[in-house]
Amino acid sequence: MDKVKIALIGAGNISHAHIQSYRKMENVEVYAICDINEQRLNETADEYGITRRYTDVDTMLADLPELDAADVCVWNCNHAECAIKALNAGLHVMCEKPMAYNAQQAVAMQEAAEKNGKLLMIGFVLRFSDEAKIAKDFIDKGYIGDIYYSKAQYIRRHGNPGGWFGDKSRSGGGPVIDLGVHVIDLTRYLMGNPKPVSVYAASYDKLGNRPHLKNNVGWIPRDAKPDDPCDVEDFAVALIRYDNGAVTQLETSYSLHGEGAGNKVLYGTKGGLDLSNGVKIYGEYNDFLTDFNVYTSNYKESQEMFAAEMAHFVDCIVNGTECRAKAEDGIEVMKILDAIYLSAKTGHEVIL
Ligand SMILES: NC(=O)c1ccc[n+]([C@@H]2O[C@H](COP(=O)([O-])OP(=O)(O)OC[C@H]3O[C@@H](n4cnc5c(N)ncnc54)[C@H](O)[C@@H]3O)[C@@H](O)[C@H]2O)c1
Repeated sequence: MDKVKIALIGAGNISHAHIQSYRKMENVEVYAICDINEQRLNETADEYGITRRYTDVDTMLADLPELDAADVCVWNCNHAECAIKALNAGLHVMCEKPMAYNAQQAVAMQEAAEKNGKLLMIGFVLRFSDEAKIAKDFIDKGYIGDIYYSKAQYIRRHGNPGGWFGDKSRSGGGPVIDLGVHVIDLTRYLMGNPKPVSVYAASYDKLGNRPHLKNNVGWIPRDAKPDDPCDVEDFAVALIRYDNGAVTQLETSYSLHGEGAGNKVLYGTKGGLDLSNGVKIYGEYNDFLTDFNVYTSNYKESQEMFAAEMAHFVDCIVNGTECRAKAEDGIEVMKILDAIYLSAKTGHEVIL
């Protein structure tokens, strides 16, 4: 096969991590780029010397039948439309998280992939960290036993990125769909992808995007400006029950009066596995309570996690390798996200 020709759809923030990852691969060419915002399109295309530029997906797909794949990096509300068009044009698709705006759209995307016999991979980038790889190795070899509880936490103290992220019509929601999605997927993946059966949740919008704040803590991608929309939740908590009896507790926020945190812990019958900061294992050894750390000497920074993710996408296309972040998982996670919003709205448990 010649170089895999990929088109980026969406030339914003995250497209840079994707393009930089593809540029590391000798068998890939970032062949074209598309964004409805012409200025952004040209800025990103200029940075990487991409000459085929489009402000409309349909025109790009019609003009470039030689494309092999598309990488969808647009607002959540447009994931489904862009991905389905690309799949129907016969392209393999990599789609950023969350898979779609809601589960219904996610199902339509998978149907388009199946109908066209093309790969649809979802951008669950945390699956591609070294920690996830190590954790999976311990779990698969039985060191943790049966996992019956997990904590999935992604707390920002002040981290509403502003722009479209606070605009529900484009994002679908706040930290649940933007941040929670990452840790729900990671814990579910490490628990063996069980099916969700019920969700109980509460969400709050007490603090908003707080554009008045003069200082910040931690790494925040982009601060909300005073005139940015904000009709999304700023904190949510949920209990997700799976068909194997296991439960995950989610906590996620853009705004919260407390320290930023990202605890990800799995509790099993033989051991506990903590991925909050490296990989730590809790268990029993020689009849003593024992902990040990697994050293991740080649710890991957986020950029390298993206490189591993994109390399896997290309490997699936070129070598037919089984995809590690399938559309069917994207759908299950979307069902959980929909149920969190519904449960928080109604105050009742949602049965899936
Ligand atoms: N994996 C991660 O850690 C991670 C991090 C950030 C963002 N994301 C995801 O990536 C996606 C984009 O986020 P971002 O931060 O880059 O946003 P962004 O606003 O910086 O970029 C999105 C771009 O998509 C363009 N766009 C919207 N609809 C389009 C359409 N129909 N056709 C062509 N272009 C269109 C917009 O004009 C914008 O330039 C989101 O789904 C987000 O959840 C993932």
